[in-house]
Amino acid sequence: MKVKNICCIGAGYVGGPTMAIIAQKSPEINVTVVDINEKRIAAWNDPDVEKIPIYEPGLAEVVAEARGRNLFFSTDVDAAIDAADMIFISVNTPTKTYGMGKGMAADLKYIELCARQIARVAKNDKIIVEKSTLPVRTAEALKRILDNTGNGVNFQILSNPEFLAEGTAVTDLHKPDRVLIGGDLDTEAGREAIQALVDVYGHWVSDDNILTTNVWSSELSKLTANAFLAQRVSSINAMSELCEVTEADVQEVAKAIGMDSRIGPKFLKASVGFGGSCFQKDILNLVYIAKSFGLNEVADYWEQVILMNDHQKRRFAAKIVKTLFNTVSGKKIALLGWAFKKDTNDTRESAAIYVADYLLNEQAEIVVYDPKVTKEQILADLDYLGTRSEEENRKLITVVNSAQEACKAAHAVAVMTEWDAFKTLDWEAIYEGMLKPAFLFDGRRLLDKEALTALGFEFYAIGS
Ligand code: UDX
Ligand code: ADP
Repeated sequence: MKVKNICCIGAGYVGGPTMAIIAQKSPEINVTVVDINEKRIAAWNDPDVEKIPIYEPGLAEVVAEARGRNLFFSTDVDAAIDAADMIFISVNTPTKTYGMGKGMAADLKYIELCARQIARVAKNDKIIVEKSTLPVRTAEALKRILDNTGNGVNFQILSNPEFLAEGTAVTDLHKPDRVLIGGDLDTEAGREAIQALVDVYGHWVSDDNILTTNVWSSELSKLTANAFLAQRVSSINAMSELCEVTEADVQEVAKAIGMDSRIGPKFLKASVGFGGSCFQKDILNLVYIAKSFGLNEVADYWEQVILMNDHQKRRFAAKIVKTLFNTVSGKKIALLGWAFKKDTNDTRESAAIYVADYLLNEQAEIVVYDPKVTKEQILADLDYLGTRSEEENRKLITVVNSAQEACKAAHAVAVMTEWDAFKTLDWEAIYEGMLKPAFLFDGRRLLDKEALTALGFEFYAIGS
């Protein structure tokens, strides 16, 4: 079968960029991205393409090319479901904050709502594609909801996990290491559905890079990939602490081990801790699944990756307090960067949130600058933790429009996100404007220690 109309439910960090590229590369397929969030859809439709709600290098150009041609953004979910022969589900699956599995299991209520809506609206056969990261065997639950509609419509469920990383989404989508498609390989209809999706990606991805598996392998591969990547970061971060108490330097260690082709050089950058919407959520999910099968050793093994990450964030904040003569009460501390990594405006699980929260508990005054994150977002992130009242957060946190302004009269500066622009700031002028001794904490190993020490900074970098 040839797919003519695609609908994607969820216009977020995954759905938006993925559909923009599918539309760009497949001009004969109409792609409609729908969301219940009217503000978000309005932003995707903003005549000024630079105002789309997600900052991703190169994405505005892709949207400019395809939007209005075969790429559409709408809040009319029912109409898009009705018209589509293939529906991607790309809604959020946050960690549950209540009830059974609280703090661990993925909250599938948004997925279930989508399934029920599809079941209600669909009048002809459709292929449903799970794009959101989901616990293993979610497809089964989806199928049961869809198959019980009683209106005779046939649904094929595919799992097609997204491996794009934020900040490099456009290149990752243009040149994926692999596209993974899980489906029902045992039936003719299942194989046809898989082929239909292979053909969509076939517009720009070669057959060799498209992998087909059964649904469960596909679902579990996504959790496994994220767990392995996060594990590398926690492993090098564990070494960073050991480096700090010995004469070793974590960057040198990372280089030395990364040249072993069995280990490889990527994902060995010590940092203040990994963030983002996926790593923590997916590992917690994995831990929850393992526990639910009684596999306690497996669960404990992976949970340690999270515990190490929490420790790294706390340790960085504690280092600031200890270095500033054991108190930051009433002291101004500038945080450079709030996003969980460079080249994105996404702040979910960003280490900066937790470091700021820790320092606020120590009664510090925090000033934040991030080139792409809004003041509203920064305050919302802190409010969400619920550590103190919204009024208190607003009293203790200031958000400014430049790094220079953030650092003025500060006792200490901490680099939280590795934005390239931070490397070339006028550090001499920043030093002049700070209280002395001027402390600089590099949570990303971004800055040149020798040059900054020569300017007069008291310099601390993770892992040395
Ligand atoms: C991740 C996976 O890479 C991607 O395949 C999946 O689809 C979604 O989750 P993402 O969270 O967007 O992508 O970014 P990623 O580049 O993986 O970084 C995650 C976090 O780890 C960031 O906070 C980053 O700063 C941190 N990190 C990464 C390190 O601290 N050190 C490293 O060496 C690499
Ligand atoms: P991700 O990073 O997985 O893309 P986001 O939170 O950025 O996650 O995006 C998910 C989007 O899905 C949000 O914009 C949210 O409004 C949307 N969404 C959630 N549930 C529904 C639903 N039932 N119908 C339509 N959109 C939904």
